[in-house]
Amino acid sequence: MQINRWENNPAVNSLLLLMREEDCENISSIPEVYEGIRGIVAVLVSRKDFRGKKGSTLRVPMVDGNLYLVGLGKKNKCSLNVIREELASGLRKIGREHNKSAFVVLSHLKEYEGLCFAFGEACGLCGYVFDKYKAKKDDYEPFALDVVYSDVYAPDEFEKGMKFADAQKFSRNIANEPGCVINPETLSEKAIELAEKYSLGCEIWDEEKLRAENMGALLAVGSGSKTPPRLIHLTYKPENPKAKIAFVGKGITFDSGGLDIKPENFMLTMKGDKTGACNVLGIMKGAAELGLNVEVHGFMTCAENMPSGSAFRPDDIITARNGKTIEINNTDAEGRLVLSDALCVASELKPDAIIDMATLTGACAVALGKWRAGLFCNDAKLAGEILTSSENRGESFWRMPLEDEHIAETLKSPFADLVNCGQRYGGAIFAAQFLREFVGEGIKWAHLDIAGVDFYDKEFGVYPKGASAFGVRTCLDYLMRL
Ligand code: BES
Ligand code: MN
Ligand code: ZN
Repeated sequence: MQINRWENNPAVNSLLLLMREEDCENISSIPEVYEGIRGIVAVLVSRKDFRGKKGSTLRVPMVDGNLYLVGLGKKNKCSLNVIREELASGLRKIGREHNKSAFVVLSHLKEYEGLCFAFGEACGLCGYVFDKYKAKKDDYEPFALDVVYSDVYAPDEFEKGMKFADAQKFSRNIANEPGCVINPETLSEKAIELAEKYSLGCEIWDEEKLRAENMGALLAVGSGSKTPPRLIHLTYKPENPKAKIAFVGKGITFDSGGLDIKPENFMLTMKGDKTGACNVLGIMKGAAELGLNVEVHGFMTCAENMPSGSAFRPDDIITARNGKTIEINNTDAEGRLVLSDALCVASELKPDAIIDMATLTGACAVALGKWRAGLFCNDAKLAGEILTSSENRGESFWRMPLEDEHIAETLKSPFADLVNCGQRYGGAIFAAQFLREFVGEGIKWAHLDIAGVDFYDKEFGVYPKGASAFGVRTCLDYLMRL
């Protein structure tokens, strides 16, 4: 999508006007961008056809195109995040209703800091669907919008927003692929392709190397699958980086549960269990595209969790890279296992911070819902920075407790150093505490539990049906601000 400055009244198919409820009561706040537009809006508002309610839209057919009014709700609840969401929904509708071009009026919203950035994100994300396997794209009309104009114009900000969106779409495209297409090997190929395109460092450990490197936990999880596990390590290294940050993504290309097999309705959508790894790929792409001045390491710890004669079993005792032994009491608690070895490797680089990302626990989704992800962190400053970026980008995170001595007790095993699964209550905290055992001494670390927010069955705002790549823009924002 192309974003242009609104000047010399180019011909457009549509005009998008975002309005708060207060704007409807006081039409003079609406810029008279088009001769007579205020008058039309005044009539619609006085007839109560449109009142600016959040999420409401009204299409008004005009002689030379369509006028779209989109509600932002009450002024005191309106924020950049509301604007981004309603922009994306509005533009998606415009694009599907055959409009090739749109003029988006933004000058009455200039007070919202970062408006152009968010506009770039909305433009980049609004048309996304994953429909490559559908012969007949019958759910909606094809997205026609390819050029938008705006009366507030900051090309650098637009471009950054679009690059953030590109990174997120890149992650979605891979996360949406089913388990019969993406497995640890084909995911490695995607990483190699990306590395070649952006001249990233790329190292991939196959099963032989994983054995030589004592990656016992990752190997155990991958042992039931026909496709062996992989650890992928991408590096983006600018000349004089300000900091060194490592990301670690859970890349379970399908989570059947293993021998502790999941019931059918829980197994569905488990192709999405590689979202953490896909997000790391997206972040690497974004970092390179944006030319960020930070050294970024992206680890993707990949395996397929399958039941078979060679699968790891309940009661098995395995040894992770740092020598800690783990008694397996549930093969469906596999994410923390693949992450454990990878966190050890990431720690060996002595980065300024490690951020891991994983569709880790149903418990986190139960606690926070499908629209807010969990943040566990051993450092207040890092947690604050991530929460600020999360607020900037409209991906909500909620800080969860890492300290809990009672839950810590349940990590103990009678036969090994740790068990991999605790009680039902506090399951997300247990998992975070388990991961902490593999983070190097003194390293700042954040764990993002993105179970639930990773996959949506209905589209809304900037999110499509399917993989959301939730967290990519927050992490890029964090890197950008370092
Ligand atoms: N991949 C799942 C977690 C998950 C659940 C992600 C729902 C997205 C949506 C994870 O590997 C898992 O199976 N977790 C178990 C842990 C339990 C066995 C301790 C869970 O949450 O039930
Ligand atoms: Mn599982
Ligand atoms: Zn899983």
